Amino acid sequence: MAGKDARALDPASLAHGCALPSEVFPDWKACFGRSAPLELEIGPGHGHFALDHAAGNPFLDLVCIETRRVDCELIRERARERGLANLIVLQGDAKLLLPRLFPPGSLSGLHVQFPDPWWKRRHRKRRMVDAELALRMRTLLRPGGAVDFRTDVPAYAQAALGVWEETGFENAAGKGKLWTDPPEVLSTRERRYLVTGQPVFRARFVNPGPPEGELALSATGRDWTDVRRK
Ligand SMILES: C[S@@+](CC[C@H](N)C(=O)[O-])C[C@H]1O[C@@H](n2cnc3c(N)ncnc32)[C@H](O)[C@@H]1O
Repeated sequence: MAGKDARALDPASLAHGCALPSEVFPDWKACFGRSAPLELEIGPGHGHFALDHAAGNPFLDLVCIETRRVDCELIRERARERGLANLIVLQGDAKLLLPRLFPPGSLSGLHVQFPDPWWKRRHRKRRMVDAELALRMRTLLRPGGAVDFRTDVPAYAQAALGVWEETGFENAAGKGKLWTDPPEVLSTRERRYLVTGQPVFRARFVNPGPPEGELALSATGRDWTDVRRK
């Protein structure tokens, strides 16, 4: 298989002998060789945030999920060069992989920075500002676990406030407000905006605890091994 039908995960790419998600819930402690707070970044792109965040916070372990194979390889290569043992990069569609990778309450943080807005109706299911993903994260994040969301699209920032607040997350800046503190670590795109002056909209949400009741999630009709883009 190749291109859009390529398998999501090449076992050879899994660092530290980490289990394939077909085995549901890799043993992250065994993968990283220790017990540490576990964070997730969805869509790291060229990975400047992932690399600097992992390097600056050696007490935490960071898993990145990125659809583009070349970006995954680039980040892994740079992590090797920098000797970072607390960063694992998986290729795949985060929305399909999430339920297989992390048991409830296992994540301490989620980073979603400059996700594609996917304005067209037929692409909406790909959005990262989406009630289904937010509800899923209510379950996967531990109580007090935080979501760090950044975008350059004002309407997407407003949509994020609506969706994450409506699904029960606490807005750390106050209801309906954006987070105004400057970030400690910049993403690849954010570094560019620092030079060009383009505004960035940030939000920070905290999980009060797991949602009540079962998650009513729709079937995607896609297999976890799907990667829609190279
Ligand atoms: C606009 S780029 C932003 C990259 C980076 N976060 C930054 O701030 O520079 C969005 C990234 O998300 C990735 N992406 C999009 N949908 C994804 C999904 N469902 N799962 C994982 N990664 C995804 C894209 O391949 C791309 O690298």
